Amino acid sequence: MNPEVLLETEALVKTFGSVRAVDGLNLQVRAGEMVGLVGPDGAGKTTTMRLLCGVLTLTSGRIRVAGYELPRQVEKAREHIGYLAQRFSLYGDLTVAENLDFFGAIFDVPPAERKARAQELLRFAGLTDFANRPAAALSGGMQKKLGLATALVHRPQVMLLDEPTGAVDPVARQEFWHLLIGLLRTGSAVVVSTPYMDEAMRFNRVIFMNRGRALVEGKPRELLNRLAGQVLELAAEPLMVARRVALADSDVDNVQAFGDRLHLRVRSAEGPLARLPAELSAASVRLIHFQPVTPTLEDVFIQLLEENHDDLPAHD
Ligand SMILES: Nc1ncnc2c1ncn2[C@@H]1O[C@H](COP(=O)(O)OP(=O)(O)OP(=O)(O)O)[C@@H](O)[C@H]1O
Ligand SMILES: [Mg+2]
Repeated sequence: MNPEVLLETEALVKTFGSVRAVDGLNLQVRAGEMVGLVGPDGAGKTTTMRLLCGVLTLTSGRIRVAGYELPRQVEKAREHIGYLAQRFSLYGDLTVAENLDFFGAIFDVPPAERKARAQELLRFAGLTDFANRPAAALSGGMQKKLGLATALVHRPQVMLLDEPTGAVDPVARQEFWHLLIGLLRTGSAVVVSTPYMDEAMRFNRVIFMNRGRALVEGKPRELLNRLAGQVLELAAEPLMVARRVALADSDVDNVQAFGDRLHLRVRSAEGPLARLPAELSAASVRLIHFQPVTPTLEDVFIQLLEENHDDLPAHD
């Protein structure tokens, strides 16, 4: 039997004036599943999270969380939701332990249980040694972990985490992901938003969002298969000239820069692999390497945006 669906939306819409911030989103998340909302600035990730936890009221559609209908049963639903906002607030003057106690009180954790719960969460977040430090004096990564811990004081079944790893160093990001994987083992359903494509490989399922819509949804590996055999990597000097030469090839659909190299999305690999070395050389470009590579989720997302011209990010 499939695990229980803990979070569900149907044709969810939220408008702000003429802006359709969320535009017909269908979502299903089961116990033990971690789903990623991935998309550029303004895609509608935060609005979706706010709708799911009942901070915003929907314009149309349906939301069910932990078996409760929103907005009608929002109070009941909230007992089962842990929400870490994109810009969450801790109380800077309060210590780590006092913050946990404070949030425990807000979420009606019985006073007798609060201390034990706080100890457990301190251990979970690796913050036991910092229990007496004012929250304002923690590093950014530790503040994120404390934020996550405060969102867990009432043992929610559904976790909504809005860009939890933003502005956090790579080591702290890694630790944060380990914490999340621990949560899944307890049977939580977790929705995480991120602008980082490299993080998207960690999700059970990824939803690429743009302009309030889901462009595609699937397991990370399945999404990568869409472009199997269609990405060539080119390192060359000077890169800008190499880009121009590559774009002129009739089998090259798109060229994107990834640091000091280019990813060419091609209709077929043979033609460009055979032709381009000589053409680059004729344009005085020094070829460093040129080979097929496994596509990244970023390649897939860029292709999806192109297929949906109307969906190009608003700032483009
Ligand atoms: N309270 C609001 N009033 C008016 N417009 C809003 C409001 N909140 C969001 N929007 C608009 O809705 C759209 C989606 O915004 P949202 O914050 O959900 O995007 P996001 O994917 O979270 O972006 P980011 O990656 O920058 O956090 C944007 O066009 C935004 O300007
Ligand atoms: Mg946001």
